[in-house]
Amino acid sequence: MMSFFRKLVHSTLSDTEVGAELDTGPDNELIVFVHGLTGNREKTWTHRNGIFWPGALLSQDFSRARIMTFGYDADVVRFWTMASSNRLDDHGKSLAYALLDRRGQVDQRPIIFIAHSLGGLVCEEALNLSNKRQDLGSILPNTLGIIFMGTPHGGSHLASWGSTVAKYLNIFRGVNREILRNLQPGSSNLQRTEEDFQHMLLRNNIKLKVYCFYEALKMNDTVGKIVERESAILPAYDNCSVNADHRDMTKFTGRADAGYGQVRGVLERWIKENETQRPDVDESAGASDGHGRGGASYNGPVFNAPISGRKTAISPRYNPGFSSKFSQRAAGHAVSLTGNIGFAEKDTVIGEQAPEPLTIDGIKARRAKAGRLVAPTASYSDSDMFKSPQSFNGPKARRWDHLLSAESKARHPCVLKQAAKHLKKPGLISLGGGLPSAENFPIERLTFRIPTPPHFSEVEASGTDVTTGKHDVERGENGGVHDLSIALNYGQSIGSAQLLRWVTEHTELVCRPPYADWRCALTVGSTGALEQALRMFCDRARGDAVLTEEYSFATALETAAPLGIRVFGVRMDEQGLLPETMDEILSTWDEAARGARKPTVLYTVPSGQNPTGATQGAQRRRDIYAVCQKHDVFIFEDEPYYFLQMQPYIGSDAPGVPPPTSAGEFLGSLIPSLVSMDVDGRVLRMDSFSKVVVPGSRLGWITASEQVVERYIRHAECASQGPSGISQLIMYKLVDESWGHEGYLQWLMNLRLEYTRRRDVILAACEKYLPREVVSWVPPAAGMFLWLKVDHTQHPEGSTKSIIEIEEEIFNSCIEKGVLACRGSWFRAEPDLPLSGLFFRVTFAAASEENMGKAIERFGAAVKESFGLH
Ligand SMILES: Cc1ncc(COP(=O)(O)O)c(C=O)c1O
Repeated sequence: MMSFFRKLVHSTLSDTEVGAELDTGPDNELIVFVHGLTGNREKTWTHRNGIFWPGALLSQDFSRARIMTFGYDADVVRFWTMASSNRLDDHGKSLAYALLDRRGQVDQRPIIFIAHSLGGLVCEEALNLSNKRQDLGSILPNTLGIIFMGTPHGGSHLASWGSTVAKYLNIFRGVNREILRNLQPGSSNLQRTEEDFQHMLLRNNIKLKVYCFYEALKMNDTVGKIVERESAILPAYDNCSVNADHRDMTKFTGRADAGYGQVRGVLERWIKENETQRPDVDESAGASDGHGRGGASYNGPVFNAPISGRKTAISPRYNPGFSSKFSQRAAGHAVSLTGNIGFAEKDTVIGEQAPEPLTIDGIKARRAKAGRLVAPTASYSDSDMFKSPQSFNGPKARRWDHLLSAESKARHPCVLKQAAKHLKKPGLISLGGGLPSAENFPIERLTFRIPTPPHFSEVEASGTDVTTGKHDVERGENGGVHDLSIALNYGQSIGSAQLLRWVTEHTELVCRPPYADWRCALTVGSTGALEQALRMFCDRARGDAVLTEEYSFATALETAAPLGIRVFGVRMDEQGLLPETMDEILSTWDEAARGARKPTVLYTVPSGQNPTGATQGAQRRRDIYAVCQKHDVFIFEDEPYYFLQMQPYIGSDAPGVPPPTSAGEFLGSLIPSLVSMDVDGRVLRMDSFSKVVVPGSRLGWITASEQVVERYIRHAECASQGPSGISQLIMYKLVDESWGHEGYLQWLMNLRLEYTRRRDVILAACEKYLPREVVSWVPPAAGMFLWLKVDHTQHPEGSTKSIIEIEEEIFNSCIEKGVLACRGSWFRAEPDLPLSGLFFRVTFAAASEENMGKAIERFGAAVKESFGLH
């Protein structure tokens, strides 16, 4: 804590000498100057002639505004060399908290930042944090805009910026070349801030004004321009050159200086626009019309809680959807923050994960506070809107640029979806989007009957009819949160806000990923999600390879093969994949002998693995994760059977173990997922509704780091466009509106017992009908598969017939006798290798008790026949 405190002592927010005295009221603007590289709070803005324009000029021209300068330690060398330890984060944090420190004075003021160079990224980081953190949540909705002056925004430019700056420092500051060699690597940190910020700007509920000034002149011929125009501008926003070099672009000779006139002009316009758009009262917090007809109202989701406090609080212009939520959060902020001393207390808030995990009651309380979710047609949303404040604690995920494929890196946001952000402009009439009008949708109403928890087996008797109409949101009917006009139209590839909220909450409830920037995105099921994930992380041209269990989900193997991705199997035991074997494979990898690069991805099915039914225990998962860390392997955690973890099997005659009686007990009984131990953000988890609700929904979701989810969405935008709207609506009505989290967990608890019963039936049949001397099995702890091992060494023709021949013989005989069992050879990760054993996969998911018995009897007969047993 002390080191954090020390790092921040240089960061202060001060009134300019003049501005402090000209404070005229709580609703007037706060203009905050943030200097850049090597600058300081005064020198950066002071001309050689001594004019400090924020004080000498601006404070007179905007006499009602409060003007402050933010000072921080901008030692660029230290900045870069410490970049990996989040130097930029620290500056952003200190700016945000410094603003918060002044809360009494600035709380309801529109904030305008004027930032030079790197200072622009400090502002961006402050706003990124405000977007994510409960305690800082009031800053973003109160920010009217940012004027960037020579701030490097661009990707490749940002990456090479370090070397330009190095030249600059070397020539103008005489900084040692040796030190400057280290400048380059820090760029990735800057890039992340920039990506987060630009991503946030794209959200429809963010209404920040942005203006970018860029330098027209070079420093000199050796250094050139520090920030080129392409990097200094943001394409969707206004920009203009200043006739000066990077260092002098923030220094004006006086009121007649053209540069000053340009900056003043932007400020005047923004303030004027803001004043004309400020209503007296806005209780609905920027809620849109919500009916979503014809795509004319393309908005981010908002929450309809009344704004607490004074009614004239905040203009919707910079009080977008979340203002009510955030203003309530800010009002509830209990830490006392005064002066720099307050940082010590803030540090506690920043660094420590709140000890209590999210609970169902916690979700209910948060929802009640946030108010009704209003998410009209094609609203953009992301998990950050729905995660609990404590989920943002912890470090950010690692970046995976080095693993992403060329294909994935080449994806850009969909221009048409991007265009939608202009719809937030007041009064704009859209002729742009290709969204049909809901008036022309030929489905007015849907009603379906669902079981009422906990009576899942008596649908007809005790079920509930759920109805959804076309204009429920507009009319406030049938829940008023989701309706057919939204569901039948195009949506965002990430999924509808309504279902994404549920999925995010559920994921936090169950998995609680330990890093800050995890997110979810809805998928068209795990089959499609895996195909996208493989294409994101594996490159045929690079010779990429994947590790998986030696017997693996056949469709996964069939997905990888045509993509040219080599798959290598890892030996298994009754708990699935063996971490020691995996470590050995990776440690001794011989690229030439294997004909593929050392694998960078592990595809694993930890619970009720398909086909073996094996379930990795908690320690096994931790060991696998550690091996992946050691070899920098990314993990695809495919978990369709996670919630089909059954009651322990302790023998056919033993009394059953009492099942969990509450949702909390049920969650506590589940083996921790890989994503729940994922401190690096190296897991892409795939959940699916297929096995736990209905496969025909073609719905699932992924959980991964923000970077990975963003790449996933870029891919989905140009592929499936995300899951079916109708499917999402039905699922939302079922798991959210009707059952809620508790009801859904009760459903899963019920399913657990159903599968336990089925498993026990098939195991009893196996014990009764199979020749134990040649057939063995491990009672599965999860899933729907039983893996039957047949001891081929005891086959009478074992010395002359191959395993595959015996397998074929038994398979054909089974078909003849009227039972289908899957051949183990169908699931081999490396089909070119000789079979190591003789296996059959049978499922207990579908057949009736009676039929399961018959089927196993027939299978037993086929084995006995082949082995000459009676
Ligand atoms: C391991 C595994 N992953 C994924 C799937 C398919 O999931 P979805 O229906 O979500 O595409 C299955 C279905 O059999 C499976 O066994």
